[in-house]
Amino acid sequence: MGFKSIAIDGPSGAGKSTLARRLAAHMGYLYVDTGAIYRTLGLAALRRGISPEEKDAVVGLLKQIDIDLRYGEDGLQHMYLDGEDVTQEIRRPQVSQAASAVSAIADVRAFLMDMQRDLACRHNVIMDGRDIGTVVLPDADVKIFLTASAQARAQRRHRELLERGEQVEFDTVLADIQARDKRDTERSAAPLRQAADAVAVDTTENTLEESVQRLLDVVKTGVGL
Ligand code: DC
Repeated sequence: MGFKSIAIDGPSGAGKSTLARRLAAHMGYLYVDTGAIYRTLGLAALRRGISPEEKDAVVGLLKQIDIDLRYGEDGLQHMYLDGEDVTQEIRRPQVSQAASAVSAIADVRAFLMDMQRDLACRHNVIMDGRDIGTVVLPDADVKIFLTASAQARAQRRHRELLERGEQVEFDTVLADIQARDKRDTERSAAPLRQAADAVAVDTTENTLEESVQRLLDVVKTGVGL
């Protein structure tokens, strides 16, 4: 029997990772956060003083570093850069921008694709990202396109950062989200867009619990639970 896959795409801060994690725990699926892979490469570029926009340098860097994704005993996804656990560090706002920039490079996307498809070949997965339903897993059993207004997404992200002890202004968070939206949707390589067969879910007005219920309904119908 083949493995099932659920693709969740959408812009930054729409709640993809929180919701995907909840669904995965509920269904016993593996949660795969593909943004973390791009973030690890973005961090590698920043550490080496390479501009994340410089295509040739970033592609060259891919051949010199080792990016690994592993699941800890806690069941959570950890990212390793040359053997070092960088799971926390890749959440920094500077790394978000670097990840968005490196992810616009077509050769980078091709290089990192196998890692993502390989996981879906070996597990039931809920995978979140920008191009999962359109490019990485076009045959996913369920596709969800998760959105919310930029204002609502910035508010949630701001709260998360403050809770983590990062002192940052709301306007900075909003500007960051808008800059990433623009780059992620306007790039030519696998831009963020809704797959034709995806179910669109707008979480602007919903509480987390309402969104979880909504997604569970969509997913249960789709994979026949
Ligand atoms: O989901 P995230 O915010 O952690 O992703 C970081 C960046 O990586 C995001 O700005 C766009 C990029 N990304 C992508 O291009 N494709 C994916 N499947 C996941 C993330």
